[in-house]
Amino acid sequence: MKVIAITGKGGTGKTAVAGMLIRHISKKNKTLLAIDADPDSNLPDVLGVKVEKTIGDMREFMLQQRDKLPPDTNKESLLESKVYEVLCEMPRYDLLVMGRPEGSGCYCFANNLLRGIMDKILKNYDVTIIDTAAGLEHLSRRIIRDVDELLVVTDGSRRGLQTAQRIRELAKSLDLKVKQMHVIANKVTPQNQAQIEEYARELKMDLVGVVPFDEMLAEFDLEGRPLAELPEDSRAIIATAEIAKKMGF
Ligand SMILES: Nc1ncnc2c1ncn2[C@@H]1O[C@H](COP(=O)(O)OP(=O)(O)OP(=O)(O)O)[C@@H](O)[C@H]1O
Ligand SMILES: [Mg+2]
Repeated sequence: MKVIAITGKGGTGKTAVAGMLIRHISKKNKTLLAIDADPDSNLPDVLGVKVEKTIGDMREFMLQQRDKLPPDTNKESLLESKVYEVLCEMPRYDLLVMGRPEGSGCYCFANNLLRGIMDKILKNYDVTIIDTAAGLEHLSRRIIRDVDELLVVTDGSRRGLQTAQRIRELAKSLDLKVKQMHVIANKVTPQNQAQIEEYARELKMDLVGVVPFDEMLAEFDLEGRPLAELPEDSRAIIATAEIAKKMGF
């Protein structure tokens, strides 16, 4: 069981990279769970999967039902069955969408149940890839407690790598027990590649790979086509396949 969370600044390409890594890893004979943890969810679109319901909807359901359930109801089992209802089973991987954040009510009860349920679900898979919203707040909320690897997607600037450095510090201060942290520089051009590699060395960041700016990918996104349909010879697909390999897949 390995849990990889993809994080980084807004718009750096976290979801695109998540989608491409899911595509590669799903071909590797491993049980794979993809989680969209961004409330402004768009991983399903990138993967070309239609999702009707989210974990957030189920949490809402539980809170509405809480006082109406017979007292002997096992609430954890009930919520667990609801979570499985939300799980999209694709031929090569499963997908869970966390959905919108909590409203103003008290969600501790449902969140506490969810933590235990997510711990259990994650154990069923060899690999879990989580696409997150920008920032680390979602990790500090800790519905998913144990992340083994943080994959920080950054743009090709020094500032982008400094953000990655801040994320490393934050992960430490949140005591996230992250075992490894890699950085992926995305949307890199031939002009800035050498510079980025130099910055990464300077800042002692483990740059696991560089994904070029890919016109085809940008065009697909613009047209709302899933990146799952990108051809094998797309530059970003080739680069992310290399990264997946370096990460041991
Ligand atoms: N390698 C690439 N080449 C060209 N365009 C890219 C590449 N990677 C991402 N993009 C484009 O950058 C934009 C942002 O990508 P994406 O949505 O994956 O970023 P994000 O980090 O998930 O954003 P958010 O913080 O909003 O979740 C999209 O328009 C996408 O098409
Ligand atoms: Mg995103």
